[in-house]
Amino acid sequence: MISTPGPFSFPRAHFILFVFMASTIFHLQQRLKKIQPMWELETQYQSYSLVTESSGSSQPKGIWTINVQGRLGNQMGEYATLYALAKMNGRPAFISAQMHNTLAPIFKITLPVLHNSVANKIPWRNYHLNDWMEEQYRHIPGEYVRLTGYPCSWTFYHHLRAEILQEFTLQDHVKEEAQTFLRGLKVNGSRPSTFVGVHVRRGDYVHVMPNIWKGVVADRRYLEQALSWFRGRYRSPIFVVTSNGMAWCRENINASRGDVVFAGSGIEGSPGKDFALLTQCNHTIMTIGTFGIWAAYLAGGETIYLANYTLPDSPFLKVFKPEAAFLPEWVGIEADLSPLLKH
Ligand SMILES: *[C@@H]1O[C@H](CO)[C@@H](O)[C@H](O)[C@H]1NC(C)=O
Ligand SMILES: *[C@@H]1O[C@H](CO)[C@@H](O)[C@H](O)[C@H]1NC(C)=O
Ligand SMILES: *[C@@H]1O[C@H](CO)[C@@H](O)[C@H](O)[C@H]1NC(C)=O
Ligand SMILES: *[C@@H]1O[C@H](CO)[C@@H](O)[C@H](O)[C@H]1NC(C)=O
Repeated sequence: MISTPGPFSFPRAHFILFVFMASTIFHLQQRLKKIQPMWELETQYQSYSLVTESSGSSQPKGIWTINVQGRLGNQMGEYATLYALAKMNGRPAFISAQMHNTLAPIFKITLPVLHNSVANKIPWRNYHLNDWMEEQYRHIPGEYVRLTGYPCSWTFYHHLRAEILQEFTLQDHVKEEAQTFLRGLKVNGSRPSTFVGVHVRRGDYVHVMPNIWKGVVADRRYLEQALSWFRGRYRSPIFVVTSNGMAWCRENINASRGDVVFAGSGIEGSPGKDFALLTQCNHTIMTIGTFGIWAAYLAGGETIYLANYTLPDSPFLKVFKPEAAFLPEWVGIEADLSPLLKH
């Protein structure tokens, strides 16, 4: 049999199909434009029911998230802790839009965002965390768990260090900006090969430490000792100082050797630049606070920290375990508590 070209010969059929497809795609696009937000939401509902209804399979069930408290350093601790504990318990982790807005402009984080409209409908079970890992956190019950607290301790996530460093990889332009700054620095007319990031936490802590926590912040003696430690170990290192109290730093850090640069914006509302500078340095001098702890963790070199900066009966020691905050290989310099004893 010889087929004759009829009304539905191939070329014609292709053309009709093309017109049909093109107009369908056009109309779909128009509709999608109008219903985009709703559509995104439905996609979230679908993945929500996918993760919740896939019983019997190896697909992890439920939704885990964590509260958003504090600023950059705290939120990094919350993110990393959620990442590690959800993985340990075989649950999918989602972050809030608020946490995403803090972290995503700086880091190439990968945890998916849970829309507020979905989060608001979930009957969460809150689960409080101490600031250190505990055995029972390996078996946290519940499919819809919201972790709470201010966790910032390597004891939760150090076994996943490579993944955590990956999550907190700087966005390219943030890293490049920091590198450009560091490349421009000179000590005695030549480019240094050792960069030491110095983070001096001041601001509210200057009052909060003595008044609430029976503690001190770093003083000039601590910083001088810490700088000397590096000067003794490396040939002509440069110290890159960032602080939310830069005026104090200029008065109290001796820069006469020409190896100290007061850098960064010190703007608390946009801490990304300062943070990036610190992580691109080879080593770290921190004072107090989670911002410095994270900078040191990510920089990954030698780290000097202020040790024992509260009185032994401080309520701070009930919520903070130094051995869970500072890596064992970091070097502590004892704080001078004498100002607390004068009153
Ligand atoms: C700069 O050079 C002078 C002269 O060589 C030297 O004494 C000084 O220690 C150097 N400064 C630093 C920070 O390396
Ligand atoms: C700053 O350091 C220089 C060089 O070591 C030293 O000569 C000077 O006395 C120091 N200044 C203060 C105020 O400690
Ligand atoms: C030290 O840091 C600088 C600036 O990020 C970098 O170029 C250099 O490779 C680092 N040195 C070492 C030994 O890692
Ligand atoms: C901090 O205090 C503890 C307990 O007294 C002590 O064991 C430790 O050596 C002190 N840390 C430093 C760096 O001095």
